[in-house]
Amino acid sequence: MKDIFNAPFIKEMTETTALMYKLGWDERNGGNISYMLDEEKVTPYLDTEDVIREIPTGFAAKELAGKIFIVTGTGKYFKNVEKDPENNLGIIKISESGDTAQLLWGYSDGGRFTSELPAHLMSHTQRLKANPENRIIMHCHPDYTLAMTQVHEMDEKKLTRTLWGQMTESIVVFPDGIGVLPWMVCGTNDIGIATAEKMKKYRLVIWTLHGIYGAGKDMDETFGLIETVEKAAKQYMLTAGLPKENAITDDNLRALAKAFNLTIREDFLG
Ligand code: 13P
Ligand code: ZN
Repeated sequence: MKDIFNAPFIKEMTETTALMYKLGWDERNGGNISYMLDEEKVTPYLDTEDVIREIPTGFAAKELAGKIFIVTGTGKYFKNVEKDPENNLGIIKISESGDTAQLLWGYSDGGRFTSELPAHLMSHTQRLKANPENRIIMHCHPDYTLAMTQVHEMDEKKLTRTLWGQMTESIVVFPDGIGVLPWMVCGTNDIGIATAEKMKKYRLVIWTLHGIYGAGKDMDETFGLIETVEKAAKQYMLTAGLPKENAITDDNLRALAKAFNLTIREDFLG
């Protein structure tokens, strides 16, 4: 067996969590990531039949039976993942019934996966239907996005249009717009179901007064989605209340859609 500490997926998780911490997106234990791993990428490092312990998922993730994920641990700090990946991360395989996660590696102090596993697994299920290449679900608490949920109307059309209007690249990066949930209790199956419902249409979902979810085929794509929303939200918060001299118009957005061959939410304009 190869040394798992050299596995590319461990490196991706440690580098990404460290970067997110440095950006201020993940205070204390804030945020979580789940990354679906193709079995052939795991078997050089782990015997995927060798189960350390079984952990109930709290719901039936039947459609993901047999799938393997590396997931941040609940209560673990993103700032600590890089120095102790085996304690702060875990590799789990979803059982046939979907109601148990078989721990293959990690959570070495007896811990378990993020409390947001329902939102992650339910979102993976929906995003895989939309795009079989989807691998990552990422959740974090970026400052400006969060601040914006205090002062902007939390309506999908209005919020997306505002963020598209903040900078030219927004619509290019998220032409499909952003789903919005009202404030809800986190860590529950209910918020998982509501998030996954939004993930049928959106790769980005904002939880009012809590944070953001992103979905993508790899770390860069997922990180880039959240990074772009956060940058646009920063523009909004930096200029909120100031008189506007210039603005991106609906016609500008239509011109971008044409130039970049984008399928945009046309109904979010006007
Ligand atoms: P966990 O520590 O369980 O991952 O929770 C952090 C969080 O951001 C809850 O939404
Ligand atoms: Zn959170």
